[in-house]
Amino acid sequence: MLEKHKDDRKSPGAWRATKDGFGNGTPTSSFFPKDHPFPFLTRKFLQWTFYLLLPFIVFRFYFYPSPPPSHLAIPLSSLPLNSSPSSSSSFPPQLPEEEGILSKETACDYTQGKWVPDKMGPLYNGTTCGTIKDGQNCMSHGRPDLGFLYWRWQPQECQLPRFDPNEFLQFFADRHIAFVGDSMARNQLESLVCMVSSVSPPNLVYKNGDDDNKFRRWHFASHNASVSIYWSPFLVKGVEKSKNGPDHNELYLDRIDERWGKDLDGIDTIVLSIGHWFLHPAVYLDDGKVLGCHYCPGLNHTEIGFYDVLRKAVRTTLNTISDRRGDGIDVILTTFSPSHFEGDWDKFGACPKTEPYGEGEKLLEGMDADMRKIEVEEVESARLGIGGNQKKVRLEALDVTRLSLMRPDGHPGPYMYPFPFANGVGERVQNDCVHWCLPGPVDTWNQILLQVIKRLRRQ
Ligand SMILES: *[C@@H]1O[C@H](CO)[C@@H](O)[C@H](O)[C@H]1NC(C)=O
Ligand SMILES: *[C@@H]1O[C@H](CO)[C@@H](O)[C@H](O)[C@H]1NC(C)=O
Ligand SMILES: *[C@@H]1O[C@H](CO)[C@@H](O)[C@H](O)[C@H]1NC(C)=O
Repeated sequence: MLEKHKDDRKSPGAWRATKDGFGNGTPTSSFFPKDHPFPFLTRKFLQWTFYLLLPFIVFRFYFYPSPPPSHLAIPLSSLPLNSSPSSSSSFPPQLPEEEGILSKETACDYTQGKWVPDKMGPLYNGTTCGTIKDGQNCMSHGRPDLGFLYWRWQPQECQLPRFDPNEFLQFFADRHIAFVGDSMARNQLESLVCMVSSVSPPNLVYKNGDDDNKFRRWHFASHNASVSIYWSPFLVKGVEKSKNGPDHNELYLDRIDERWGKDLDGIDTIVLSIGHWFLHPAVYLDDGKVLGCHYCPGLNHTEIGFYDVLRKAVRTTLNTISDRRGDGIDVILTTFSPSHFEGDWDKFGACPKTEPYGEGEKLLEGMDADMRKIEVEEVESARLGIGGNQKKVRLEALDVTRLSLMRPDGHPGPYMYPFPFANGVGERVQNDCVHWCLPGPVDTWNQILLQVIKRLRRQ
């Protein structure tokens, strides 16, 4: 780490960070046990100081940082890409029909693969499904190129079965699956509800959270299956920045958000999804004390960035779920979803690609890689932490970071608004290059989710 530190100091980013008085490269991480080292601390420090040096753009609920400049690019980490057991033994390909033959050890590594053309297309469209958030309904907003709908993910060593809504319903008969997190959780939930709706009509049985539908629950009466969404962008307790409240978020890293926590007893499978909200300015509290903050000029707190904070939030969440639901629950953490800004977010062509990246064309690096790594590591360490109870509390990372990184074509871009070019191309065109069009690449997350759930149930 010391050597790395030396090297880092040569880079312009490090110099700036020090010069501007953001610290000496050793942010506090005192809330982590000593036996959990952070070998990349200096590197991470570099990255988040870079983010906080940038002006933030207010965009709906998000602050989007621009992509890091190439001189801060980090080589691909050597971490194994999947938390599941080695997939070297999963050849010949795992096919759904072979379920009975498969031993428990053979797990398909869905993280490595490529996008290949697929004539089949999605199970639903922008008009057949009534639950797509406006800003993500690219088809009904007039996105002209629909080629992005005709790709499927081909893992290197196995086949990924097409999403089978009936199979999903059978798995969740008399059960409840809950999505908890930020707008990415919602993106994933709406994809799932749309796909399942293609075979069984859902009833919206609960709705709360103003106009924004932050808390909802559907019931598929055909199978008594329930699907719900809980808004909780930090998973832990938080106070969100608001017009009349604080101009930064406040996070309580030692306790979960009880808006979903109170319902844990009635949940059989919980899908967690967070990340982007951790880039916002925030003050962090732990056990009643202020630990520090991220981008809080004017407040007398130590800048500690957001990586360690994300780690702590995930850790608190997974530990609390395991503690409370030792009687049995499946916990799936969807990993960080990369954005694809190629310039200013409010200029024409902010995410202009119309095809996926090819194999090897785009490296997983920088913040995308670090956010993902933290999440995968915390799932792994929580799994080890529960020891003998692994049969009841089953934890898995839904590792979608890389396959999503390869889909720069899947974002709404300007079609977050209806027919953005009806009057020609304006000087300012707002773009969403963070969320995903529905139908779109997120459908693949759920395709994999179903396989992961199958695997967990078989254990
Ligand atoms: C959506 O699907 C429905 C039913 O399959 C079809 O009638 C309709 O034309 C489709 N709409 C679009 C925009 O493709
Ligand atoms: C429906 O599913 C819920 C769990 O989501 C369960 O508690 C309830 O007993 C089920 N109802 C019937 C009639 O089986
Ligand atoms: C800022 O915090 C330091 C250390 O806690 C304290 O000594 C100092 O007085 C504080 N400054 C202000 C302006 O509150």
